[in-house]
Amino acid sequence: MKIILIGSNGQLGSDLCIALKDRELVPLTDKDIDITDIDSVLAACKRHKPDVIINTAAYVLVDDCEDNVDMAFHVNALGARNVAVAAQQLGSVMVHLSTDYVFGGDEDRHTPYTEFDNPVPLSTYGKSKLAGERFVEHLCPRYFIVRTSALFGRAGSCGKGGNFIETIIRLAKQKDKLNVVCDQVFSPTYAKDLAHKIGELIDTRYYGIFHVTNSGTCSWFEFSREILKLAGSKTSVIPIKASEYPQRARRPSYSVLNNYHLRLLGMDDMRDWKKALKDYLVEKGHIARLKT
Ligand SMILES: NC(=O)c1ccc[n+]([C@@H]2O[C@H](COP(=O)([O-])OP(=O)(O)OC[C@H]3O[C@@H](n4cnc5c(N)ncnc54)[C@H](OP(=O)(O)O)[C@@H]3O)[C@@H](O)[C@H]2O)c1
Repeated sequence: MKIILIGSNGQLGSDLCIALKDRELVPLTDKDIDITDIDSVLAACKRHKPDVIINTAAYVLVDDCEDNVDMAFHVNALGARNVAVAAQQLGSVMVHLSTDYVFGGDEDRHTPYTEFDNPVPLSTYGKSKLAGERFVEHLCPRYFIVRTSALFGRAGSCGKGGNFIETIIRLAKQKDKLNVVCDQVFSPTYAKDLAHKIGELIDTRYYGIFHVTNSGTCSWFEFSREILKLAGSKTSVIPIKASEYPQRARRPSYSVLNNYHLRLLGMDDMRDWKKALKDYLVEKGHIARLKT
């Protein structure tokens, strides 16, 4: 099975390179392919004739998407379309990464979203990612759309210049208390665990939309408290409301993804986010390896 990986130097892309190292893998960065340019996408895909194309490339800066709406739709919607056209022309399976931020517009909802729920995004980022999903669904006969949330991985997000955990650890070294939002709830997800689950999925023919996150849920406040507890920091975390921390993009107050499709197919849930967080902190050298 020959696999093209678009966005191979990104946060998830880096872990996919490791998880798929025993396969025939062609890693492509933005120097090799520009997903907003259909000729570039078709040329790269025709050169390698892949069985599977994985698209992790995206414009992930949620607040910047509000200021650069055209760019958000170019990368997240038309970029996904271009990759779907290539997959369709070459008869390849497409794996496309999406987000929990396609949900959240139904603001009274506080139960996990399944793949069979109707997405209602709140932000330009969420709308552009949903538009990308729709192109993939309509153009590509065999696809896996993988929605995930709050990724943390060894490489850190290229687009975001790191990830939430690294930001909290850095700030905790500078301050003795941190104010963190407590009314946005989600499931943090370790890029390494997600990469292995994508490896399992592409060996199946269970095409469709999949929610793939670590188990368990938390707010940014609870996530920060656990990070600093494990890292042995004395900095305290103070819960604040999202309304006290204005951001340009609206974010869901609840965006937990029920990994229902995986469960229906008898595939294992991913481990609890707290266990994954411990492994991440060890992997990054923030804490020593723990005895289990
Ligand atoms: N990060 C999260 O918390 C999160 C949560 C839910 C879903 N997701 C989704 O998961 C996927 C991976 O996220 P990530 O955190 O791994 O992001 P990331 O680290 O920013 O990686 C994205 C990759 O896309 C590349 N890229 C951007 N524009 C491109 C273009 N026009 N053509 C080709 N490559 C391009 C970037 O390259 P350069 O940076 O070198 O340009 C980078 O390597 C995305 O689809 C994202 O929407 C992420």
